[in-house]
Amino acid sequence: MELTRGVLVTGAGGQLGAALLEEFRGEQVVALTRSDWDVALPPPAGLPEVDVALHTAAWTDVDGAESDPQGAAAVNVGGTQHVAELGAPLVAFSTDYVFDGRKQEPYVESDAPNPLSAYGRTKLQAEAAAGEDAWIVRTSWLYGWTGTNFVRTMLRLGAERDEVAVVDDQRGSPTYVGHLAAAVRELLELPRGLWHVSADGECTWAEFAEAIFEEAALDCRVRRITAAELGRPAPRPAYSVLRSERPGAPRLPHWREGLRACLDRLGS
Ligand SMILES: NC(=O)c1ccc[n+]([C@@H]2O[C@H](COP(=O)([O-])OP(=O)(O)OC[C@H]3O[C@@H](n4cnc5c(N)ncnc54)[C@H](OP(=O)(O)O)[C@@H]3O)[C@@H](O)[C@H]2O)c1
Repeated sequence: MELTRGVLVTGAGGQLGAALLEEFRGEQVVALTRSDWDVALPPPAGLPEVDVALHTAAWTDVDGAESDPQGAAAVNVGGTQHVAELGAPLVAFSTDYVFDGRKQEPYVESDAPNPLSAYGRTKLQAEAAAGEDAWIVRTSWLYGWTGTNFVRTMLRLGAERDEVAVVDDQRGSPTYVGHLAAAVRELLELPRGLWHVSADGECTWAEFAEAIFEEAALDCRVRRITAAELGRPAPRPAYSVLRSERPGAPRLPHWREGLRACLDRLGS
């Protein structure tokens, strides 16, 4: 796709937003944070026409969505509808949490979703709100160099403590936003529709934490616990590895390579 009129990025203050701003820095980019446009509201007047809208703004507080599903829907479903109304080709980001996790091999695009959480339900509705003519990118377990994410939390805890308790009965593919952003550029050359785009490989959160401590040379043990022991409000799928069954789908590097790239970026 030629980007003569530029790219609009919602959620520009988020972790994927930051990576997309970098990936598309050679283009004209209209970067919108929540203070520029609360996407739960209709678009502000005067937005320029662009070639594509990369819609990353979302209610991403998975546990918080359980107690305020309407608030989450206003941002995730209403927000996606509003961005689609701009009329530009749309890339909308969705999640592995649209699946119930009963499968024991990677989920592909033709698998039936069945979200367990309010967040997952809003993101599934958001996919429909994006419309048939959008690229819908399902990805998983995102982390990057900004914001609050698992890698940054583990780096902090690993420096403060001898041991951390981490869930070992949920399996997925931790995905580095820098690698995902590069894949988004590839996707713009591919047909629209649903695409699964996650890091190669899979692990549990506990295995991911161990890898973080190993790569960052932090002397911290991981105590493996169950999700039931952690007792978070929102249920999460026990297994949510994503793979694409579509020809020519972008392939991301292994999650461990993504972790190293992120740690390099963080100087850890
Ligand atoms: N994080 C993950 O593990 C994960 C996994 C799979 C899919 N995804 C999806 O990937 C996309 C990007 O996620 P991310 O990890 O980059 O999330 P993030 O770091 O939480 O960023 C989301 C951004 O959206 C903004 N936002 C929230 N409500 C808004 C509103 N009403 N209007 C405008 N902006 C609003 C947030 O602003 P504030 O900072 O001001 O709240 C934040 O900058 C989302 O669609 C998410 O659902 C994420």
